[in-house]
Amino acid sequence: MAVTESAVVPVGAHGESEGARDGGAGAAERARAAHEGILRRQSARESAARTYARALPIVPVRARGLTIEGADGRRYLDCLSGAGTLALGHNHPVVLEAIRKVLDSGAPLHVLDLATPVKDAFTTELFRTLPPRFAERARVQFCGPAGTDAVEAAFKLVRAATGRTGMLAFTGAYHGMTAGALEASGGATDVRVARLPYPQDYRCPFGIGGERGAELGARWTESLLDDTKSGVPIPAGMIFEPVQGEGGVIPAPDAWTRRMREITAARSIPLIVDEVQTGVGRTGTFWAVEHSGITPDVMVLSKAIGGSLPLAVVVYRDDLDVWQPGAHAGTFRGNQLAMAAGTATLAYVREHGLAERAATVGARMMAQLRCLAAEFPCIGDVRGRGLMIGLELVDPEGPPHPTPDGLTPDGPRPAAPELAAAVQRECLSRGLIVELGGRRSSVVRLLPPLTISDEQTSAVLDRLADAVSAVAQGEHRRGRGGARGADGPR
Ligand SMILES: Cc1ncc(COP(=O)(O)O)c(C=O)c1O
Repeated sequence: MAVTESAVVPVGAHGESEGARDGGAGAAERARAAHEGILRRQSARESAARTYARALPIVPVRARGLTIEGADGRRYLDCLSGAGTLALGHNHPVVLEAIRKVLDSGAPLHVLDLATPVKDAFTTELFRTLPPRFAERARVQFCGPAGTDAVEAAFKLVRAATGRTGMLAFTGAYHGMTAGALEASGGATDVRVARLPYPQDYRCPFGIGGERGAELGARWTESLLDDTKSGVPIPAGMIFEPVQGEGGVIPAPDAWTRRMREITAARSIPLIVDEVQTGVGRTGTFWAVEHSGITPDVMVLSKAIGGSLPLAVVVYRDDLDVWQPGAHAGTFRGNQLAMAAGTATLAYVREHGLAERAATVGARMMAQLRCLAAEFPCIGDVRGRGLMIGLELVDPEGPPHPTPDGLTPDGPRPAAPELAAAVQRECLSRGLIVELGGRRSSVVRLLPPLTISDEQTSAVLDRLADAVSAVAQGEHRRGRGGARGADGPR
């Protein structure tokens, strides 16, 4: 399929890379050598725990919108978007302008949690975007800069408010990498949370999926809470993502979300919704809770709210605000540049109806990806909400999972992480950056900026289709991208 190079937005003020500008083979060679030197030093010096850098051996030097340019002069369409952080793509002019304004104003950059006009403007804009019934009684705690810290703060808050300790969390969840957040995440092994089934159509634990599968999960939740011998005491809170991102792009049905709200409200269990990845228009509404219309007790927000810079907050109903001064302190809770960038981003998404655009573009992309899945049986499932999209790669020759009635022929085939990794590599060799996630890393994820144009959308889909086709035909085994010079993970 065609690779629509013209859809790539020019990068940086000068457009071309150093190598391309000189037009000389020598300059291109030097750029390539610099790129490789940086990657070599990274792998020699940085931790074995590094992640994205392994599968994406690129050295970004310039970026604008959807496009990143590497030190070697290659350009990429970036559908990773800082793991869903960049609602407006890289270096959006309104974000740069907001940051410059703070820098030029002489305002202090470090203020702990003191009041500033920049912070005041951020809080005002944030509250303006929140679901009105939630905003009416909302309080905000500025946290350390990462989403995981806001998750920790939310747990601390509900524990202080309820006097209870336990937490309910879901299979497949991802809430971050600090101790409490990790414990609530699906991959945890040493846990004190009670784990509940998250609804999923494709690999439904009850084998039926849909609203009915979700309802069975809700009933299990109820029975666990009401059975005095379940071994699960009434917890301090329940936490879930409206769409599981790292878990494999799994949207919770709205009816299930409303059931969770009823179940927790009836038992005075604070409901924490983790909107770190789903917030700021990503799923087709400003906040993903708007799809179901529920009012949570606590919302955890990060990623896009900082307009590409680190910022995390927990927002909650005022009657939960019983923790003590200093209960969640931290030196870096007052990032003025992130607040300014965040204010500009929130306002831009709101004023330009980008959530609605994410819904429209996302639906169109998913429709086209479903056509691709019909052509290539290695795509087992296409799912998502708005511009949070996933393709689950499966082994088309593998045995289908048996269905409970034994009659329905099409249970899911085994996950195929090696095919997903191959698609990611083939995408990279075609200048497209995608993320992997999900159980066994078998889901290719697309998280483009909400500002993606129609032309860019076609370019992304063309490249992805081309990559899937290459993998389905086994090209990845023969040449790992061959003439295009694909790089495998290091
Ligand atoms: C839903 C969700 N919660 C929390 C986090 C943790 O955020 P951070 O990586 O900023 O700590 C993430 C990160 O991907 C996330 O997707």
